[in-house]
Amino acid sequence: MTKLKLALLAGAFALFPAVGSLAAPPESIVIDDCMAKKSAVEFPHAAHFKDHECSTCHHTQEGLTKDSDEQVKPCSECHNEPEKKSTPSCSQSSLKKNQFHINCVDCHKAEKAGPTKCNDCHPKQ
Ligand code: HEC
Ligand code: HEC
Ligand code: HEC
Ligand code: HEC
Repeated sequence: MTKLKLALLAGAFALFPAVGSLAAPPESIVIDDCMAKKSAVEFPHAAHFKDHECSTCHHTQEGLTKDSDEQVKPCSECHNEPEKKSTPSCSQSSLKKNQFHINCVDCHKAEKAGPTKCNDCHPKQ
């Protein structure tokens, strides 16, 4: 998300602070914020949150649930142009330096389920 869009969002929340009920977490997401060298990644979100705590991935929002009255911050808000060089970034191809690779691939390896090969997540175009 661009800084401008974030600023507009922040503005909208300043005008309407009582958020009320937020939209349910999306069933499925196409992750393409950093798409450059590799194709966009299909992420079956619901298949993940049925068995895993939200904060496993939304790690800055401890206690987040399906019914939370809380705005969910996309990873891109902090990881696309991270303040610190040491913070993983979605534009990195390394399995150790991209927040998605660390989050997604490390869990798939640990749980022996889910894709771990480059082309399984980034289908050849
Ligand atoms: C479990 C799924 C998964 C696997 C396996 C995976 N990636 Fe990714 N990768 C992602 C996601 C999600 C992103 C973020 C995509 C975006 O924002 O466009 C990403 C981003 C990238 C990016 C930066 C964005 C871009 O398009 O330039 C590169 C490069 C990349 N991956 C290369 C690789 C390589 C090389 C491998 C194999 C060693 C690999 N990935 C394996 C999920 C995966
Ligand atoms: C396995 C990891 C994982 C789990 C578990 C998970 N999410 Fe997500 N969620 C993601 C990713 C990745 C995105 C896409 C973020 C992005 O595009 O930067 C996302 C996006 C979202 C979004 C949309 C945010 C936006 O505005 O783009 C919402 C809302 C959300 N999740 C809520 C939840 C809730 C509530 C739970 C628990 C019931 C949950 N998620 C569990 C990984 C996860
Ligand atoms: C509010 C800001 C923020 C949001 C939103 C955020 N992160 Fe992070 N994340 C950070 C920062 C800062 C670090 C590095 C700080 C640290 O080392 O603890 C980090 C570190 C990580 C790491 C590395 C942890 C490790 O042990 O090496 C992973 C993986 C990660 N984030 C994944 C995600 C994913 C996936 C999402 C979205 C579902 C997400 N983050 C959303 C700020 C954020
Ligand atoms: C905490 C562990 C965990 C994390 C984090 C995680 N996954 Fe998974 N993933 C799994 C498990 C377990 C399965 C197998 C689920 C099943 O078969 O029902 C899976 C399956 C998948 C599948 C295959 C679904 C299918 O229908 O065969 C895809 C694609 C996938 N994950 C993508 C991702 C991406 C992209 C990310 C990161 C944004 C991610 N996963 C993060 C545990 C995780």
